[in-house]
Order: sequence, then C-alpha cells, then structure tokens
Amino acid sequence: MMNAIQEASRLLASRLPQTPTVGIVLGSGLGGLADQIPNPVIISYAEIPGFAQSTAPGHAGRFVAGELAGQYVLCMQGRLHFYEGHSMQSIVFPIRVMADLGIKTLIVTNAAGGVNTSFSIGDFMLIEDHINFMGANPLTGPNLDELGPRFCDMTFAYDPELRALAEKAASEQGVRLQKGVYLGYMGPSYETPAEIRAFRTLGADAVGMSTVPEVIAANHCGMRVLAMSLITNMAAGIEKKKLSGDEVIEIANSRAKLLQALVCKIVSEL
Ligand code: HPA
Repeated sequence: MMNAIQEASRLLASRLPQTPTVGIVLGSGLGGLADQIPNPVIISYAEIPGFAQSTAPGHAGRFVAGELAGQYVLCMQGRLHFYEGHSMQSIVFPIRVMADLGIKTLIVTNAAGGVNTSFSIGDFMLIEDHINFMGANPLTGPNLDELGPRFCDMTFAYDPELRALAEKAASEQGVRLQKGVYLGYMGPSYETPAEIRAFRTLGADAVGMSTVPEVIAANHCGMRVLAMSLITNMAAGIEKKKLSGDEVIEIANSRAKLLQALVCKIVSEL
C-alpha cells in the first residue's frame, strides 16, 4: 500500500510545478471551485496508478491543481463513495497521496440532507464532529505505521482553529454558517424517516454519504481538516415529499458560487 501511495504521489509531483499546500475535496455539484483556478494542471484519476474511478453523478474524477486565493491548491474534482462499491482503502487513497505530497491542510465539502429542523435548504454547515454510521472504517486492516498510529485519536478531527477561521470568514462575507454534527450513511438509498428521527436523537444535524472516511484517513496521517456541508434538501420525512438526487445537484449548483467564495476566503487566510 505504501508503495502504491508513493508511486501515485511521485507521478503527481512530477506533473505539478510546485508542491501544493492545501488539498480540497469537492462534493456533489461543488466541483466548480476548481474551474476558478487559472491555468490549472489537470490530472485525471484514470492516469494515476492505484486510483479507482468515480462513477457518481456530479463528480468529474480528476485532480485540478493551481493557484487559488494565494495558495497552491490541489482539488479533487469528484470523490469516491462507499456506495459505489469502492473499498474504504480506495476511497482514502487520494487523501493519503495528498499527505505524501506534503499537504498538511485538507478542506472537504459535501452535499448533505438537513436533519436539524432549524436548518433550511441551501444552508451551509460547518462540520464540528461526525458520527460514523457507515459500518466500516478506512483504518481497518494492517496499520500503515509510516502514516500514523494504530489507534487514531479523533477528539479534534475537525480542527478547532480552522473552524474559527471559517466562522470568521463566513461572518465577514455575510454568509450564514450553521454548525453541527455530520452523520455518514452508507447509502445509496436515502435514509428512511424513522432512521432520520433516530439519527436526530443520536445528535446528528446533517446526513450524507461521504466525508467520514476521508476525514478519518486525513486525521490518521496528521492533516488538519476543515469540512463544510451544503444542505441540499431536508432529510427524509421532514418535508412530506420524496427526495431526489436531481434536486440535490440542482441546489448544489445554485449555491455553489457562494460556497466557492467562502472556501476562497478561507484559503486566502490560511
Ligand atoms: N441523505 C444522504 N445523503 C445526502 C442527502 C440526504 O438526504 N442529501 C445529499 N446527500
């Protein structure tokens, strides 16, 4: 595994004019941020040894690198999900490659359903903590001692300093930023209304099908993590209507620009 990570990282390093300082994972419908990078270096996941291919809608499946808000960033335009059938190890492989490249700060975005009934569709939520309800963990199996410890501490999984910085950036931009706990669900079916009621009781504010594996792996290899959700819909049963993947992408597209501006502002202050 370490060999595969290093091989992929060497390939990326050979293609990039400088070492990125920030990694950014762009969630469903949020890939547009990478399009703001002038003269980007674009590397399709298909070109990288060891990479699995993304099949999810709204996920381009490539790295886009370049200068954004004064930092050299490496964006993942599209991520891998557990529901696509990828192993947890495949899902976190790109994160480990980023760490091997020397990236110390990871910004993760996603589309999520609002579980907290005080949230509104289109809200942004700063993830303060998560509940891993995916039934799997990317750190199972032999520990990669070169990356991190067998038992990875998750107390400050979402870096408190980065969270404070995000809150400051949001208030300076006049953007309302909700805060809460993200629950990672395996999918690909959406949750039932009963599950959503149970998750609310457990302390979840938003639910989605990503992020948790990446954040665990990033913590394992010592990266600082900031993560934000775009609430694309209220979770099942809150509104008396069915959920649709098209609506998720539609809301993500309509709110993407504002989230991009917020991420840029945060990157400029790192
Ligand atoms: N549930 C799970 N994942 C999601 C949702 C949801 O309601 N909305 C966007 N991603």
